[in-house]
Amino acid sequence: DWTPGSFVEEAIEKIRNQIGPEAHAICGLSGGVDSSVAAVLVSRAIGDRLTCIFVDNGVLRKNEAAEVVKMFKEQVAIGDHGEGRLNLVHVDASKHFMDALHGVEDPEQKRKIIGRVFIEVFEREAAKVKNATHLVQGTLYPDVIESVSFKGPSATIKTHHNVGGLPERMNLKLCEPLRELFKDEVREVGASLGMPHHVLWRHPFPGPGLAIRCLGEITQEKLDVLREADAIFIEELRASELYEQVWQAFSVILPVRSVGVMGDGRTYENVLALRAVTSKDGMTADWARLPYEFLAKVSSRIINEVRGINRVVYDVSSKPPATIEWE
Ligand code: XMP
Repeated sequence: DWTPGSFVEEAIEKIRNQIGPEAHAICGLSGGVDSSVAAVLVSRAIGDRLTCIFVDNGVLRKNEAAEVVKMFKEQVAIGDHGEGRLNLVHVDASKHFMDALHGVEDPEQKRKIIGRVFIEVFEREAAKVKNATHLVQGTLYPDVIESVSFKGPSATIKTHHNVGGLPERMNLKLCEPLRELFKDEVREVGASLGMPHHVLWRHPFPGPGLAIRCLGEITQEKLDVLREADAIFIEELRASELYEQVWQAFSVILPVRSVGVMGDGRTYENVLALRAVTSKDGMTADWARLPYEFLAKVSSRIINEVRGINRVVYDVSSKPPATIEWE
């Protein structure tokens, strides 16, 4: 019978055999469930011969980079010389990404730029790791199936950013220890490795991040407003125990201003849309029937606490024909 414990034991053995006694491996961390579990698992097999690279692209959510770094700093890696720290390289490339995104409005252009800059930054950091032979990826069983026989609507309508082609270019072999697992099994494996619950139950977050939730041209100011508003939405979802009942929930800052009234004055500020959906796999989705009282609280908190937003709307579109993201 499959148990997370026996899976971990066998996986560690296999990873040691695959990578061998001396070579090094590199893992790109996104902060998502899959790459995090893969990284921790491999670190229990080869210790400090694994280097994890976390690229802050400047379009992450509030506190996200700090949380990822903290989680990995707390991990114990087990290598040839016993226990040690997990090797983590935190690259703050926000400026590089923001410069490249300057003035860009088209969603597909945003995706391409973020994908390209990511590869540039990642390759530069990876080249510093001596004797690297393997690239660790958190590929799951559904990803394996999907890439062979199935292209969903989002894969064709929106070009998804991934590191395709990277292992060949860098002359690295792939190490994909989660290839036979489904998401729920990955979470069990993560739990048996002692990883925190909130990391294992995080909503999916797109590679292009907040860049595709800041509609039209991206500015630092709009990103800051979006981050603050989104943090309130997520905080309230957690407080009401609704977070794990939805597939994804996030805010979108619209390139539209509307008139409002605050005290004695007239305001003219941006509109913020809240999006929450239920789904099994992201291929189809239904808008989440969040309680009115909950929406009322989130709306009034955002309008009162976040300067730059004077109106909040809730997205009531399902996929298809709408998509989950707005861009
Ligand atoms: P859509 O908007 O196509 O999204 O209904 C379906 C799922 O895919 C995520 N998504 C992306 N993920 N790069 C990613 O890594 C992307 O460019 C991208 N676009 C959408 C979206 O968050 C949802 O989970």
